[in-house]
Amino acid sequence: MERELALELVRVTEAAALAAGRWMGRGEKEAADGAAVAAMRSVFDTVAMDGTVVIGEGELDEAPMLYIGERVGSGHPPRVDVAVDPLEGTNILAKGLPNAIATVAVAEEGCLLHAPDTYMEKIAVGRWAKGRIDLAAPVADNLTAVARGTGKDVRDLVVVVLDRPRNFELIAAIKAAGARLRLISDGDVAPAIATGIREEGPDIVWGIGGAPEGVLAAAALKCLGGEMQARLKPMSPGELERCHRMGVTDVDRLLTMEDLVRGEEVMCAVTGITDGDLLKGVRYRGSEARTSSLVMRARTRTIRFIEAIHDLAHKPFRLPGEA
Ligand code: FBP
Repeated sequence: MERELALELVRVTEAAALAAGRWMGRGEKEAADGAAVAAMRSVFDTVAMDGTVVIGEGELDEAPMLYIGERVGSGHPPRVDVAVDPLEGTNILAKGLPNAIATVAVAEEGCLLHAPDTYMEKIAVGRWAKGRIDLAAPVADNLTAVARGTGKDVRDLVVVVLDRPRNFELIAAIKAAGARLRLISDGDVAPAIATGIREEGPDIVWGIGGAPEGVLAAAALKCLGGEMQARLKPMSPGELERCHRMGVTDVDRLLTMEDLVRGEEVMCAVTGITDGDLLKGVRYRGSEARTSSLVMRARTRTIRFIEAIHDLAHKPFRLPGEA
């Protein structure tokens, strides 16, 4: 994959963020998601790649665009797997809360886990704690190991967990071990990426959240030198059936970084929609808008923060409400 592709991917996430940002705090998550998907889809056509969506908006009967199996890009080489989340954090955007992002990851064909749309137990850390986590080990052991890697005490650590009943046992164990917690209402991808960027950011993102989001976070952490381990957690017979349909036979298998995202040919772009841990959200003023994005490649581990000023009257795609 040519390195220029990474910069092309930012245009894709910027488009989704520009379209979704207008819906901040307006309580209309379907409209916001639809706008983000349509904008992202239209810019993909201009990107020189032959991509297949492996993590997307759902299966063909659930999603008209960016569905699993859809071909995206101009159709020219390289052949790549594509993971998208045009609006990660639909509820948080609907309420105007922090950490809604638009994100895309691309890897060599066959290298991204084709994760079913079920839940996934995941633990994510930055490069400071790489090689020290073990989802199969007790909570306190993981905290001790991560503390050692980051040069902190266990009581200094900040662990981000989705505030859901299914994570209550984990939350209790983290409290018992003495670490600090940030319980979030939604959106576990942005904090997972933040573990890989800022030493003063969260140290661990842990608990059961979405499996597709897990693959996107793992792709970003691959570029950042961090680590994620995961295990699928289908919560109903229907979700188990989804796993089987996607060819997963051993649902309980511990998934390592290489199972989630294989190899080093991985690129990832993220644009902020609302202000968050990593990036500022979209700022509009008349026909101008500013975006903050992040683009990264696993091969070189370069992390670029990209600030862009957009003239909305001159975009090749239409945004809702713009002339
Ligand atoms: P959406 O953007 O699809 O709403 O997902 C947001 C999210 O909070 C993810 O970040 C997280 O992994 C998942 O949903 C958690 O699922 P649930 O809300 O069902 O607990």
